[in-house]
Amino acid sequence: MSDASFLTLDKLSLAYGKTIAVKDLDLEVRKGELLALLGPSGCGKTTTMRSIAGLMNPVSGRIRLDGSDITRVSANKRAVGLVFQSYALFPHLSVFDNVAFGLKLKGMRGAELDAKVSAGLKSVGLSAFASRKTPELSGGQQQRVALARSMVMEPKVLLLDEPLSNLDARLRLEMRTELQRVQKESGVTMIFVTHDQVEALALADRIVVMKGGAIEQIGTPQEIYNHPVSSFVADFVGFENIFAVRDGKLVTSGGDISLRDELPVAEGLAWRPRAVTMGSGPLTGVVRGVSFAGGTREYVLESRLGVIKAEVDAALPAHGLGAEIAFDLPVADAAPLQRFG
Ligand SMILES: Nc1ncnc2c1ncn2[C@@H]1O[C@H](COP(=O)(O)OP(=O)(O)OP(=O)(O)O)[C@@H](O)[C@H]1O
Ligand SMILES: [Mg+2]
Repeated sequence: MSDASFLTLDKLSLAYGKTIAVKDLDLEVRKGELLALLGPSGCGKTTTMRSIAGLMNPVSGRIRLDGSDITRVSANKRAVGLVFQSYALFPHLSVFDNVAFGLKLKGMRGAELDAKVSAGLKSVGLSAFASRKTPELSGGQQQRVALARSMVMEPKVLLLDEPLSNLDARLRLEMRTELQRVQKESGVTMIFVTHDQVEALALADRIVVMKGGAIEQIGTPQEIYNHPVSSFVADFVGFENIFAVRDGKLVTSGGDISLRDELPVAEGLAWRPRAVTMGSGPLTGVVRGVSFAGGTREYVLESRLGVIKAEVDAALPAHGLGAEIAFDLPVADAAPLQRFG
């Protein structure tokens, strides 16, 4: 085993009865890495996590962790921690006892237990709350208890399934930073499920984009953001103008259209709204929507290519609804897609 394959999923297939949820999934997770699983509802994120945690048996394939095959090892012997969206804390127990629970099951008692739990609470900033009952905590604090409870078990891998989705926007941001800090300080290998691309881009060392029970793309946040391999990934990371390419032309609702510049060899091309230039260019569109977004203004243009989303500096003069505007899709600013659909 090398650090590059600390956790390996090898041709993993997972099913609920006859329904295949994940098919032939290959994944190598590095030691100490924070990996985000990103994808739409139903693509198999939770199912993949459940199999790593040992909560479901694969139909086929293997799971290796730290040099051992754990495919058939029971959940409580895997050294894998799991934090869910619902924290599943014990409401009748104090914060301290919630965090101590798993350690006690392992037979730890006395000063050693006290020290471990105290260190765990300190690492998530909850030392002052040790004797509170968990229902008397805010959502963010409960999430920290759940995190501490998993971390004190010193898992080899910590799995977090949408841990922030119950929190409001501000707390989410705060907890995101907290998670990142705990992960870097402890060096624990973490897999984090989200369907929020911003969260994945902000947190992860690498992102795995899943679609229909398979991996669509793996890469660093920069790779995923700037070089999506397919229209699916491009759509997921905010390219709003996505076209198939056929015989050097864009396939649009108004027919196949040539651009001024030659198109690269690709199955598709995608532009972010801010890559669209407005006010000049060989194409024309009618403003069907305009909204002020602080530093920028967002336009919806109706054109012979169909609907185009553009985002330009708000300091530029605004165009009103119904105005006819010249625009361009600069080929140099497009992301070429290897797969369309
Ligand atoms: N207990 C179950 N019984 C039958 N099918 C299930 C069960 N749990 C999940 N599935 C199916 O397996 C597929 C993958 O589900 P999974 O829960 O892994 O998706 P997910 O990516 O976590 O989605 P979400 O973002 O909504 O949490 C879906 O098609 C789902 O309907
Ligand atoms: Mg899920």
